[in-house]
Amino acid sequence: MENIHAVYNGRFDSLNNIKISPLSRAYTFSDSVYEVIPFCNSSTIAFDKHILRLEKSCNALSFQVDIKSISIEINELIKKSNLKNGYVYYQISRGIDNLRSHMFDQDISIETFGYVVSHTFSSQSLRVMFCEDLRWQRCDIKSTSLLGNVMSMNNAKNKGCDEVIMHKNNIITEGGASNVFFANDECVFTPSLSNNILPGITRDLLIEKLKESDIRIEEGEYTIDDLTGAKSIWLTSSTKGLAQVIDVIDKKTNIQVDHHLFKKCEELFVKNFFT
Ligand code: PDD
Repeated sequence: MENIHAVYNGRFDSLNNIKISPLSRAYTFSDSVYEVIPFCNSSTIAFDKHILRLEKSCNALSFQVDIKSISIEINELIKKSNLKNGYVYYQISRGIDNLRSHMFDQDISIETFGYVVSHTFSSQSLRVMFCEDLRWQRCDIKSTSLLGNVMSMNNAKNKGCDEVIMHKNNIITEGGASNVFFANDECVFTPSLSNNILPGITRDLLIEKLKESDIRIEEGEYTIDDLTGAKSIWLTSSTKGLAQVIDVIDKKTNIQVDHHLFKKCEELFVKNFFT
Protein backbone atom coordinates (compact mmCIF):
# COMPACT_ATOMS: atom_id res chain seq x y z
CA MET A 1 0.00 0.00 0.00
CA GLU A 2 1.18 3.55 -0.75
CA ASN A 3 2.63 5.54 2.11
CA ILE A 4 -0.30 7.38 3.67
CA HIS A 5 0.70 10.18 6.03
CA ALA A 6 -1.06 9.84 9.35
CA VAL A 7 -0.93 11.08 12.91
CA TYR A 8 -1.94 9.29 16.10
CA ASN A 9 -2.06 11.10 19.45
CA GLY A 10 0.18 13.83 18.04
CA ARG A 11 2.81 11.46 16.57
CA PHE A 12 3.21 11.55 12.78
CA ASP A 13 3.85 8.22 11.07
CA SER A 14 2.87 6.17 8.07
CA LEU A 15 -0.72 4.85 8.38
CA ASN A 16 0.62 1.27 8.20
CA ASN A 17 2.65 1.75 11.36
CA ILE A 18 -0.15 3.05 13.55
CA LYS A 19 -1.50 0.51 16.02
CA ILE A 20 -4.51 1.16 18.22
CA SER A 21 -5.97 -0.55 21.27
CA PRO A 22 -9.12 -2.67 20.86
CA LEU A 23 -10.33 -0.90 24.00
CA SER A 24 -10.46 2.43 22.23
CA ARG A 25 -14.01 3.69 22.79
CA ALA A 26 -14.06 4.59 19.07
CA TYR A 27 -13.85 0.84 18.49
CA THR A 28 -16.22 -0.46 21.18
CA PHE A 29 -18.88 2.28 21.32
CA SER A 30 -18.33 4.69 18.39
CA ASP A 31 -17.71 7.16 21.20
CA SER A 32 -15.95 9.43 18.71
CA VAL A 33 -16.44 12.30 16.30
CA TYR A 34 -14.74 13.18 13.03
CA GLU A 35 -14.23 15.66 10.22
CA VAL A 36 -13.39 15.38 6.53
CA ILE A 37 -11.50 18.51 5.50
CA PRO A 38 -10.94 19.00 1.76
CA PHE A 39 -8.05 20.89 0.18
CA CYS A 40 -7.55 22.09 -3.38
CA ASN A 41 -4.29 23.48 -4.83
CA SER A 42 -2.78 22.82 -1.37
CA SER A 43 -5.27 25.19 0.33
CA THR A 44 -7.96 23.96 2.68
CA ILE A 45 -11.58 24.76 1.86
CA ALA A 46 -13.60 26.36 4.68
CA PHE A 47 -11.05 25.23 7.28
CA ASP A 48 -12.48 27.42 10.08
CA LYS A 49 -16.00 26.10 9.51
CA HIS A 50 -14.74 22.48 9.74
CA ILE A 51 -12.80 23.23 12.92
CA LEU A 52 -15.80 24.98 14.47
CA ARG A 53 -18.06 22.00 13.67
CA LEU A 54 -15.44 19.61 15.13
CA GLU A 55 -15.35 21.71 18.29
CA LYS A 56 -19.18 21.63 18.49
CA SER A 57 -19.22 17.84 18.06
CA CYS A 58 -16.62 17.54 20.85
CA ASN A 59 -18.63 19.85 23.12
CA ALA A 60 -21.81 17.83 22.52
CA LEU A 61 -20.01 14.76 23.91
CA SER A 62 -18.05 16.70 26.59
CA PHE A 63 -14.67 15.89 25.03
CA GLN A 64 -12.01 18.31 26.31
CA VAL A 65 -9.74 18.94 23.33
CA ASP A 66 -6.91 21.26 22.39
CA ILE A 67 -8.43 22.49 19.14
CA LYS A 68 -5.39 24.68 18.33
CA SER A 69 -3.01 21.69 18.29
CA ILE A 70 -5.52 19.72 16.25
CA SER A 71 -5.70 22.53 13.66
CA ILE A 72 -1.90 22.59 13.47
CA GLU A 73 -1.78 18.78 13.04
CA ILE A 74 -4.30 18.87 10.19
CA ASN A 75 -2.29 21.53 8.33
CA GLU A 76 0.94 19.66 9.05
CA LEU A 77 -0.51 16.46 7.56
CA ILE A 78 -1.36 18.30 4.33
CA LYS A 79 2.11 19.85 4.21
CA LYS A 80 3.88 16.53 4.80
CA SER A 81 1.83 14.78 2.11
CA ASN A 82 2.92 17.18 -0.66
CA LEU A 83 -0.48 16.54 -2.19
CA LYS A 84 -2.25 19.30 -4.12
CA ASN A 85 -5.80 17.96 -3.98
CA GLY A 86 -7.21 15.70 -1.33
CA TYR A 87 -8.75 15.56 2.11
CA VAL A 88 -7.83 14.93 5.73
CA TYR A 89 -9.87 12.49 7.79
CA TYR A 90 -9.56 13.43 11.47
CA GLN A 91 -11.14 11.50 14.32
CA ILE A 92 -11.32 12.18 18.05
CA SER A 93 -12.39 9.53 20.54
CA ARG A 94 -13.08 9.82 24.24
CA GLY A 95 -10.10 7.54 24.88
CA ILE A 96 -9.14 4.01 25.81
CA ASP A 97 -10.97 2.18 28.59
CA ASN A 98 -9.22 -0.13 31.05
CA LEU A 99 -12.06 -2.55 30.36
CA ARG A 100 -15.13 -1.99 28.17
CA SER A 101 -17.70 -0.07 30.16
CA HIS A 102 -20.58 2.11 28.97
CA MET A 103 -19.92 4.55 31.79
CA PHE A 104 -16.46 5.91 31.17
CA ASP A 105 -13.73 6.61 33.67
CA GLN A 106 -13.13 10.40 33.99
CA ASP A 107 -9.35 9.76 33.93
CA ILE A 108 -9.07 8.48 30.37
CA SER A 109 -7.34 10.72 27.82
CA ILE A 110 -8.69 11.91 24.49
CA GLU A 111 -7.40 9.85 21.54
CA THR A 112 -6.79 11.54 18.18
CA PHE A 113 -6.13 10.09 14.76
CA GLY A 114 -5.88 11.56 11.29
CA TYR A 115 -4.65 10.80 7.80
CA VAL A 116 -4.39 12.56 4.48
CA VAL A 117 -5.19 11.13 1.03
CA SER A 118 -5.34 12.37 -2.51
CA HIS A 119 -8.79 13.03 -3.99
CA THR A 120 -9.95 14.24 -7.37
CA PHE A 121 -12.80 16.72 -7.13
CA SER A 122 -14.64 15.93 -10.33
CA SER A 123 -18.32 16.36 -11.14
CA GLN A 124 -20.33 13.22 -10.41
CA SER A 125 -23.74 12.04 -11.59
CA LEU A 126 -25.59 9.88 -9.10
CA ARG A 127 -28.19 7.15 -9.13
CA VAL A 128 -30.06 7.21 -5.82
CA MET A 129 -32.76 5.45 -3.85
CA PHE A 130 -35.19 6.84 -1.27
CA CYS A 131 -35.15 5.07 2.08
CA GLU A 132 -36.57 5.49 5.57
CA ASP A 133 -34.11 7.29 7.86
CA LEU A 134 -33.20 4.67 10.47
CA ARG A 135 -30.90 6.85 12.55
CA TRP A 136 -30.88 8.31 16.04
CA GLN A 137 -32.04 11.80 17.06
CA ARG A 138 -28.67 13.62 17.14
CA CYS A 139 -27.61 13.45 13.51
CA ASP A 140 -26.36 17.03 13.89
CA ILE A 141 -23.31 15.63 15.75
CA LYS A 142 -20.64 14.42 13.31
CA SER A 143 -20.22 11.13 15.15
CA THR A 144 -18.54 8.02 13.74
CA SER A 145 -21.65 6.13 14.83
CA LEU A 146 -22.99 5.71 11.28
CA LEU A 147 -24.62 2.28 11.23
CA GLY A 148 -27.94 3.60 9.86
CA ASN A 149 -26.08 5.31 7.01
CA VAL A 150 -23.90 2.24 6.40
CA MET A 151 -26.88 -0.16 6.26
CA SER A 152 -28.91 2.07 3.94
CA MET A 153 -26.02 2.94 1.64
CA ASN A 154 -24.94 -0.67 1.21
CA ASN A 155 -28.51 -1.76 0.56
CA ALA A 156 -28.61 0.96 -2.14
CA LYS A 157 -25.24 -0.16 -3.53
CA ASN A 158 -26.62 -3.69 -3.97
CA LYS A 159 -29.38 -2.15 -6.08
CA GLY A 160 -26.88 -0.34 -8.32
CA CYS A 161 -27.12 3.05 -6.56
CA ASP A 162 -24.41 5.51 -5.51
CA GLU A 163 -26.27 7.20 -2.64
CA VAL A 164 -29.54 7.29 -0.72
CA ILE A 165 -31.94 10.11 0.07
CA MET A 166 -33.38 9.50 3.51
CA HIS A 167 -36.77 10.54 4.86
CA LYS A 168 -38.40 10.40 8.29
CA ASN A 169 -42.12 9.67 7.81
CA ASN A 170 -42.03 11.14 4.30
CA ILE A 171 -40.07 14.29 5.33
CA ILE A 172 -36.69 14.48 3.55
CA THR A 173 -33.71 14.58 5.90
CA GLU A 174 -30.40 14.13 4.02
CA GLY A 175 -28.25 11.82 1.93
CA GLY A 176 -26.31 8.89 3.41
CA ALA A 177 -23.15 11.01 3.35
CA SER A 178 -24.41 14.30 1.92
CA ASN A 179 -27.05 17.05 2.13
CA VAL A 180 -29.94 17.34 -0.31
CA PHE A 181 -30.85 20.25 -2.62
CA PHE A 182 -33.51 20.44 -5.32
CA ALA A 183 -34.89 23.05 -7.68
CA ASN A 184 -37.85 23.96 -9.81
CA ASP A 185 -37.49 26.58 -12.55
CA GLU A 186 -37.48 29.52 -10.13
CA CYS A 187 -36.01 28.48 -6.80
CA VAL A 188 -33.54 26.21 -5.01
CA PHE A 189 -34.72 24.34 -1.89
CA THR A 190 -32.96 22.44 0.88
CA PRO A 191 -34.17 20.91 4.18
CA SER A 192 -33.72 23.26 7.17
CA LEU A 193 -31.14 22.40 9.80
CA SER A 194 -32.42 20.29 12.69
CA ASN A 195 -31.25 17.47 14.96
CA ASN A 196 -32.06 15.14 12.06
CA ILE A 197 -29.37 16.34 9.68
CA LEU A 198 -25.70 17.18 9.70
CA PRO A 199 -25.05 20.90 9.20
CA GLY A 200 -22.97 20.29 6.08
CA ILE A 201 -20.18 22.74 5.32
CA THR A 202 -20.72 22.42 1.55
CA ARG A 203 -24.43 23.10 2.15
CA ASP A 204 -23.51 26.19 4.16
CA LEU A 205 -21.02 27.48 1.56
CA LEU A 206 -23.53 27.05 -1.26
CA ILE A 207 -26.35 28.78 0.66
CA GLU A 208 -24.01 31.70 1.50
CA LYS A 209 -23.11 32.17 -2.17
CA LEU A 210 -26.73 31.79 -3.33
CA LYS A 211 -27.85 34.49 -0.92
CA GLU A 212 -25.30 36.85 -2.50
CA SER A 213 -26.58 35.95 -5.99
CA ASP A 214 -29.85 36.44 -7.86
CA ILE A 215 -30.83 32.79 -7.36
CA ARG A 216 -33.64 32.26 -4.81
CA ILE A 217 -32.95 29.77 -2.01
CA GLU A 218 -35.46 28.47 0.52
CA GLU A 219 -34.90 26.25 3.53
CA GLY A 220 -37.88 24.28 4.84
CA GLU A 221 -39.61 20.95 5.35
CA TYR A 222 -40.01 18.96 2.13
CA THR A 223 -41.58 15.63 1.18
CA ILE A 224 -40.75 12.83 -1.26
CA ASP A 225 -43.37 14.30 -3.63
CA ASP A 226 -41.55 17.65 -3.59
CA LEU A 227 -38.42 15.85 -4.78
CA THR A 228 -40.05 13.66 -7.41
CA GLY A 229 -41.79 16.77 -8.77
CA ALA A 230 -38.53 18.76 -8.90
CA LYS A 231 -36.67 19.62 -12.11
CA SER A 232 -33.29 18.98 -10.51
CA ILE A 233 -31.93 17.25 -7.41
CA TRP A 234 -28.33 17.35 -6.20
CA LEU A 235 -26.34 16.23 -3.18
CA THR A 236 -23.54 18.15 -1.50
CA SER A 237 -20.52 17.06 0.53
CA SER A 238 -16.87 17.94 1.07
CA THR A 239 -15.74 15.08 -1.18
CA LYS A 240 -18.56 15.17 -3.78
CA GLY A 241 -18.96 18.96 -4.09
CA LEU A 242 -22.29 19.35 -5.91
CA ALA A 243 -23.29 15.99 -7.42
CA GLN A 244 -26.37 15.91 -9.58
CA VAL A 245 -28.91 13.09 -9.27
CA ILE A 246 -29.68 11.66 -12.69
CA ASP A 247 -31.91 8.77 -11.65
CA VAL A 248 -34.05 7.78 -8.65
CA ILE A 249 -34.74 4.06 -8.75
CA ASP A 250 -38.31 2.81 -8.40
CA LYS A 251 -39.72 6.37 -8.75
CA LYS A 252 -40.98 8.47 -11.61
CA THR A 253 -39.40 11.94 -11.48
CA ASN A 254 -39.34 15.18 -13.46
CA ILE A 255 -35.56 15.47 -13.40
CA GLN A 256 -33.96 17.34 -16.29
CA VAL A 257 -30.26 16.46 -16.44
CA ASP A 258 -28.07 19.61 -16.42
CA HIS A 259 -31.03 21.83 -15.48
CA HIS A 260 -30.02 25.52 -15.70
CA LEU A 261 -30.33 26.14 -11.94
CA PHE A 262 -28.09 23.18 -11.09
CA LYS A 263 -25.50 24.34 -13.63
CA LYS A 264 -25.61 27.91 -12.22
CA CYS A 265 -25.14 26.62 -8.65
CA GLU A 266 -22.29 24.33 -9.72
CA GLU A 267 -20.57 27.18 -11.54
CA LEU A 268 -20.97 29.48 -8.54
CA PHE A 269 -19.53 26.83 -6.21
CA VAL A 270 -16.56 25.87 -8.40
CA LYS A 271 -15.71 29.52 -9.17
CA ASN A 272 -15.66 30.45 -5.47
CA PHE A 273 -14.05 27.40 -3.90
CA PHE A 274 -12.20 25.33 -6.50
CA THR A 275 -10.24 27.79 -8.64
N1 PDD B 1 -19.73 13.21 5.03
N2 PDD B 1 -24.56 14.52 5.87
C1 PDD B 1 -23.86 13.42 6.21
C2 PDD B 1 -24.56 12.32 6.93
C3 PDD B 1 -22.49 13.33 5.88
O1 PDD B 1 -21.81 12.23 6.23
C4 PDD B 1 -21.88 14.40 5.18
C5 PDD B 1 -20.43 14.35 4.79
C6 PDD B 1 -22.65 15.52 4.84
C7 PDD B 1 -22.07 16.71 4.12
O2 PDD B 1 -21.24 17.46 4.97
P1 PDD B 1 -20.02 18.31 4.43
O3 PDD B 1 -20.53 19.17 3.34
O4 PDD B 1 -19.57 19.08 5.61
O5 PDD B 1 -18.97 17.34 3.93
C8 PDD B 1 -23.99 15.55 5.22
C9 PDD B 1 -18.31 13.09 4.86
C10 PDD B 1 -17.78 13.68 3.61
C11 PDD B 1 -17.92 11.64 5.11
O6 PDD B 1 -18.42 11.08 6.06
O7 PDD B 1 -17.04 11.12 4.40
